[in-house]
Amino acid sequence: MKKRMNNQRIIETDSFPFDFISRLAARESWRKEVHRPIYHIHKWWATRLGSVFRAIILGCVLPEGSDFAAEFYKTHRFAGLTIFDPFMGSGTTIGEAHKLGLTALGRDINPVAVESVRSALGPMDRGALESAFEELSNAVGERIRSLYSAKDYTGRACDVLYFFWVMQVPCVHCQRAVDLFPSWVIAANAYPDRKPDTQVLCPSCGEIFPGSRRQESATCTSCGFNFNPDQGTAKGSKSTCPWCRDTFNILDAVGTLRSRPAFRLYGKLVLTRDGRKEYLRATSADFEAYQACTSQLQEEGMQGNLVLPTLSLADGHNTRQAISYNFKRWRDFFNDRQLLAVSWLYKAILEIGDIPTRQALLTLHSGTLEFNNLFASYKGEGTGAVRHMFSHHILKPERTPIEANLWGTSKSSGSFSTLFRTRLLRAIEYRLKPTEVNGISGNGRQCAPAFSGHIEASWPNDASVEERAIYLSCGDSANSSLPAGSVDMVVTDPPFFDNVHYSELADFFYAWQQLPRVGGANPCVSTRSSAEVQDSDVESFATKLKGVLQECGRVLKDSGLLAFTYHHSREEGWRALAEAILGAGFVVVNSQPVKAEMSVATPKAQAKEPIQLDIILVCRKRSHLSPPPASSEEAIKAAREKMDRLHAAGFTLSRNDQKVVLFGQLLTTLRTPAESSCFARAENQFVPVAYSELPTTAQLGLGF
Ligand SMILES: C[S@@+](CC[C@H](N)C(=O)[O-])C[C@H]1O[C@@H](n2cnc3c(N)ncnc32)[C@H](O)[C@@H]1O
Ligand SMILES: [Zn+2]
Ligand SMILES: [Zn+2]
Repeated sequence: MKKRMNNQRIIETDSFPFDFISRLAARESWRKEVHRPIYHIHKWWATRLGSVFRAIILGCVLPEGSDFAAEFYKTHRFAGLTIFDPFMGSGTTIGEAHKLGLTALGRDINPVAVESVRSALGPMDRGALESAFEELSNAVGERIRSLYSAKDYTGRACDVLYFFWVMQVPCVHCQRAVDLFPSWVIAANAYPDRKPDTQVLCPSCGEIFPGSRRQESATCTSCGFNFNPDQGTAKGSKSTCPWCRDTFNILDAVGTLRSRPAFRLYGKLVLTRDGRKEYLRATSADFEAYQACTSQLQEEGMQGNLVLPTLSLADGHNTRQAISYNFKRWRDFFNDRQLLAVSWLYKAILEIGDIPTRQALLTLHSGTLEFNNLFASYKGEGTGAVRHMFSHHILKPERTPIEANLWGTSKSSGSFSTLFRTRLLRAIEYRLKPTEVNGISGNGRQCAPAFSGHIEASWPNDASVEERAIYLSCGDSANSSLPAGSVDMVVTDPPFFDNVHYSELADFFYAWQQLPRVGGANPCVSTRSSAEVQDSDVESFATKLKGVLQECGRVLKDSGLLAFTYHHSREEGWRALAEAILGAGFVVVNSQPVKAEMSVATPKAQAKEPIQLDIILVCRKRSHLSPPPASSEEAIKAAREKMDRLHAAGFTLSRNDQKVVLFGQLLTTLRTPAESSCFARAENQFVPVAYSELPTTAQLGLGF
């Protein structure tokens, strides 16, 4: 695609170094929270890599012929340029634009996303935060830590790192409570080849004793009972009752309950005074301590002292499984001690007078919830111990949840005090000295001035925006209320056509976050909106995306570029995209493949051929400066060259990767929405033909 036009930006041309960028992106993706902590102060889904968005923005500004790699590491100040991201998410475009000196406008329909960007990029004072944290630690922190104390093996007082629980259901046949243990191995090392040691629970007496990986039989050190540690009481959807031996369907048993299943406390991991970790069975003192929390929760509830969410779950793809287990309200996701501790901490933060400090700590509190609820589980030793609740994209009830010490100890994972350091303090460091990933060593290089830490109070209503200013707004980007023709470029990452409904999951956080806004009353507002661009129906996804892109066309200057990332494995995702882009009056002038972050929860259908690429689609208004369409031959040739470049840069492309490169390039051949049917043809016939023209698998070094 060597079409030359005046005033072309480098991202429109084939000299855009997506191979160089992909290498940086790969480095960043290994430790993205460390390389770009500002986008990770709170959970958000589908966060994009900062280096990719820095490159997209630079690519939209720098003219063809620039020495991109050199420019990438320079400090820039593109004053007077305005950028808009209509699908802001965790704020990657906004933060990167701010670093490059542009005026950045971010909008997202979800208040959870907007609030976390507001905290991450808004005022944060290290001194004020540290002293507020210290005060919390001495007061409410102390109270919370006292909820997590026990006795070690020798009877000395110690901190509890984690309590271990198991879900119980009544046997359908004999009605006795059945523990749903998938196995009796309750802890293993994350690297079992190096450390095969395990911890095993005795099904007969409840003792916890050391074992070894792959042992087929274990003998309890306390009662002498011999058993196979891999044969628990629950397997898949079924459970076998240890009392009457009946095998029943777990959901049938749940169906006999009015509320969510109960959980039984069976063990704990403690931190002894001399810093050792000990796995111990739960004792009567532990049961009593938990019972005391239940009583206190009731008492404080009756006195009206608790701040607890009342929002219910609504049916949806991501919530259905949790609802089928009778998790009906978001507060059902916590046990009584967690509710008490979370509520105490929440109330204490609300009392902080300094608004930015309170805001940042409320965001941290919300983020902590992800690791401190009944859907979190134990990853074992040798890694961050707590597997958070969103390791699956759907909310999957956990049969053996872990209850972490909410305030945390020096050895905790996912606690308020550890996240204070790894999230907030790290973000502050980054804001003072923003760095870029180095392609060779991965070490950071400072290439931007410190963040201003300032966010404008309201959305601009005329074009006179301030230099390097950040504007945030919450709402549907199909109606942005920005002035027409006021932005120089739109850079974004729209939702993909799939089943991840951000708002269904974000409600878990919003159930808490909405509480202070109305002074303690429980408002019960969901983040779900019919305007959210997310649909399992192709046509309505395309229509909603088109609505936002049309609005982008209205606010974008005629000479401006629209650039966004996308990937999808099936043709329908591309058809919907083409209909939206072309229907909104844009044309795709080029497409650039870049390394994407690997999704943790790759859908099964894609597991064999995962997509590791995002395609950057570079668009112009059809009416303005748009080049003639590429021919299919040109598009295939360009796709092939791009795959070659990625391969030369060390990337092995799966079949789906090849497909997305090809489909991205095919978009440059289209000029009307009607032509978007080409993807269906390509999937059926055209793709195999195209593949046969591509380098052979042997040449590409591919394994299929
Ligand atoms: C793929 S995410 C963006 C992720 C972002 N690039 C990041 O790195 O975090 C898409 C975002 O679009 C938002 N969204 C969906 N429909 C929207 C609409 N109609 N208006 C504004 N935002 C919308 C979602 O809430 C979600 O945050
Ligand atoms: Zn039974
Ligand atoms: Zn035993």
